[in-house]
Amino acid sequence: MGQQPTEWWRSAVIYQVYVRSFADGDGDGTGDLAGVRARLPYLAELGVDALWFNPWYLSPMKDGGYDVADYRAIDPAFGTLAEAEKLIAEARELGIRTVVDIVPNHVSDQHPWFQAALNAGPGSPERELFHFRRGRGKHGELPPNDWPSQFVGSAEPVWTRLPDGDWYLHLFTPEQPDLNWAHPAVRQEHEDILRFWFERGVAGVRIDSAALLAKDPALPDLAGGPHPHPFVDRDELHDIYRSWRVIADEYDGVFVGEVWLPDTERFARYLRPDELHTAFNFSFLSCPWDPGRLRTSIDTTLAEHAPVGAPATWVLCNHDITRTVTRYGRTDTGFDFAAKAFGTPTDLALGTRRARAAALLSLALPGAVYVYQGEELGLPEADIPRDRIEDPMHVRSGGKDPGRDGCRVPLPWAAGAPHAGFGGEPWLPQPADWASYAVDRQAVDPGSMLGLYREAIRLRPVFGDGPLTWLPAPEGVLAFARADGALCVVNLADTPVDLPEHTALLLASGPMDGVGRLPEDTAVWLRS
Ligand code: GLC
Repeated sequence: MGQQPTEWWRSAVIYQVYVRSFADGDGDGTGDLAGVRARLPYLAELGVDALWFNPWYLSPMKDGGYDVADYRAIDPAFGTLAEAEKLIAEARELGIRTVVDIVPNHVSDQHPWFQAALNAGPGSPERELFHFRRGRGKHGELPPNDWPSQFVGSAEPVWTRLPDGDWYLHLFTPEQPDLNWAHPAVRQEHEDILRFWFERGVAGVRIDSAALLAKDPALPDLAGGPHPHPFVDRDELHDIYRSWRVIADEYDGVFVGEVWLPDTERFARYLRPDELHTAFNFSFLSCPWDPGRLRTSIDTTLAEHAPVGAPATWVLCNHDITRTVTRYGRTDTGFDFAAKAFGTPTDLALGTRRARAAALLSLALPGAVYVYQGEELGLPEADIPRDRIEDPMHVRSGGKDPGRDGCRVPLPWAAGAPHAGFGGEPWLPQPADWASYAVDRQAVDPGSMLGLYREAIRLRPVFGDGPLTWLPAPEGVLAFARADGALCVVNLADTPVDLPEHTALLLASGPMDGVGRLPEDTAVWLRS
């Protein structure tokens, strides 16, 4: 494939590892670093450039590890720091870089800082690291303000009252108290944490909830309040990320921000040359399987990134989102947290056909692509029995929201092995047909989803790093060329279409029809 470009992250394929569910090396039912190390050859064969690990730090796991008790220690369920260092080095030997997930907005309530704040009592300097306030009402019995939970669907307040009368802020669960980013010690600590991981050889950092850190110090009500928003996308954030960028540059490290913002101009501000390198493309991820909407999403994405010189990212799902094959098989093929419901019907054959086409679409676009573990196997969203759901999003919605565990089920590796080869009895139950998706089955079948991903990632460099040009195409068809002479055509119409002129068919997401036309919900890569 020739040389890695210097700025590898501009066109990388980055594989997301949800450690808890990837592979279980010690047989206790929870995925771990030993499991990942054992499967590095699989990831190398898939051809990915980097691995993004969801938080692997010491954590009570009240929110799947996004409640961190120690940012410099690996959770014992996953392994040790020494193992993480080995993993980073071994992956690098295979040409695979490592991206860690930093959670700066909040810590676990078990974090020593929060424990010290609890013990120190009202008015103490320890409490200044968080947002402690007296309540409203005659006896302080009402929360200090009206902010809504950041877990969509949760009606529970973002404030919890302590026996000593103080309330503390948590945009997510009560076990995830928000840090006070106006405090210099908070900034200092996170700069040290970044150095800690860069020193250990990581190439990048994903920034969790990146647009939420800064709060209006007056913590005003949202209702009726004028802009700017008291806790989303505040201008102070840019100063924080500029100081982070200086550190990343020392190590040649890169950032990817979890920035959910509908305003594309505000979104792009995070990607200015002295801030974050990249951010997740949630507009593309939420986009329905619709030719016009997809084309608009692609155009908007490219247009918003161009002025700041940042590469786009293309994401179809992650550990928070309904699995792609399930989503694309539904009547509503977009993604919206608020619309999640138990029992939404889906046509998995249709969803899978579309997911295959979407894989070729995203891997042909200019920028970096994220692949969430199991996406390359075409895993559907699993129905988890209600009494086994651990995700706080489910519980905090009063049981209405199915939560996110359906996309977090331990992977199937070997069809004939117990627990489909994951390891011990998995922490989340695997559906009965899980073995049919197993890696060992798909690895020997070039027509499988895994076969398609492997081949697409291998061939992807044919698109080069040049810009995208839309080609004239029939209604419902997306067709574009990249400067290096490769074309991508996706048929979202409901009838087969003729292929444009080409010299070779490089890859197809499904068979052509009997007379060589491109069927509906199918994509091809062509050489012009
Ligand atoms: C991010 C994570 C999500 C987590 C939340 C709180 O959105 O992706 O999994 O629950 O932040 O940390």
